Amino acid sequence: MEKEQLKHEIRSMRQEKNAVILAHYYTEPDLQDIADFVGDSLALAQSAAKTEADIIVMCGVHFMGETCKILCPDKKVIVPDLAAGCSLADSCRADDLKAFIDEHPGYKVVSYVNTTAEVKALSDVVVTSSNARRVVDSYPKDAKLIFGPDKNLGAYINSITGRNMLLWNGGCHVHGRFSLQAILRLKAEHPEAKVLVHPECPAAIQAVADEIGSTAGLLKYSTESDAREFIVATESGILHKMQLASPDKTFYPAPPEVTEGIGCSCNECSYMRLNTLEKLHHALLTESPEIVVDPAIAEKAVRPINKMLELSK
Ligand code: 13P
Ligand code: SF4
Repeated sequence: MEKEQLKHEIRSMRQEKNAVILAHYYTEPDLQDIADFVGDSLALAQSAAKTEADIIVMCGVHFMGETCKILCPDKKVIVPDLAAGCSLADSCRADDLKAFIDEHPGYKVVSYVNTTAEVKALSDVVVTSSNARRVVDSYPKDAKLIFGPDKNLGAYINSITGRNMLLWNGGCHVHGRFSLQAILRLKAEHPEAKVLVHPECPAAIQAVADEIGSTAGLLKYSTESDAREFIVATESGILHKMQLASPDKTFYPAPPEVTEGIGCSCNECSYMRLNTLEKLHHALLTESPEIVVDPAIAEKAVRPINKMLELSK
């Protein structure tokens, strides 16, 4: 089917079925353009929590669909492709975390939103990269905290809050792969460019940043800054909204390390890019695939998510 016809039918089905389409900044431009709401992980959860739609279509990755379902158990939550996972969420299995918690009695567990429902169910509070500092700061300075699974975000929050949280050794395959040398080369070519870095990147990349923040934070910075050029070290999908918000500015996606022979070396998240217009159309048509969360897990996982939403008001 032609792209325009697909878009037309998606819009009609959305209206007929009282569905809302949510999309993360890392999805392809066509999806961002047709979505009712595009946001970072926090904004997507907030948007799901208050929607009056009967069906939530989450164009993002699996844990984002789970978060919607946990917050809205009575609604149908569908995703364009159930295989859209997350290497970071995969780096923390619930049974491994449970064993770690048992080895550290008296510790509270702060979990990044990029986790499975089972991991959230073991957590005291959830954070996103937008609110991690604020949520961690809600605990006394001497609180014993475990932070996972992203070790780079955890180390960053430790450094800016002067804490010593125990860090889970997890990471994202996209943010862990940016090349410092290539960023420095770009910076030498464009000395006036500001370097924007997501906190899932390693400390060496964070060290050359003019701004460290969530996708929404980096977008805001690029929109409000007087600078004309930006080097962007996060998934390149965010450049779409950056360029739309600032058509006269120039954005350079930070290049990744080129790894011979093993998988993709691009700065796109292969999971996010499983979402396509065709699959969104099919998902609305068939109202599937649906996200299912065990109600007993959801009952436990909703508490740390709600605590985060409370602390983010
Ligand atoms: P934010 O949108 O919260 O910055 O998260 C980035 C990310 O990796 C989502 O998977
Ligand atoms: Fe997960 Fe990384 Fe993809 Fe975000 S960019 S969804 S953290 S794999």
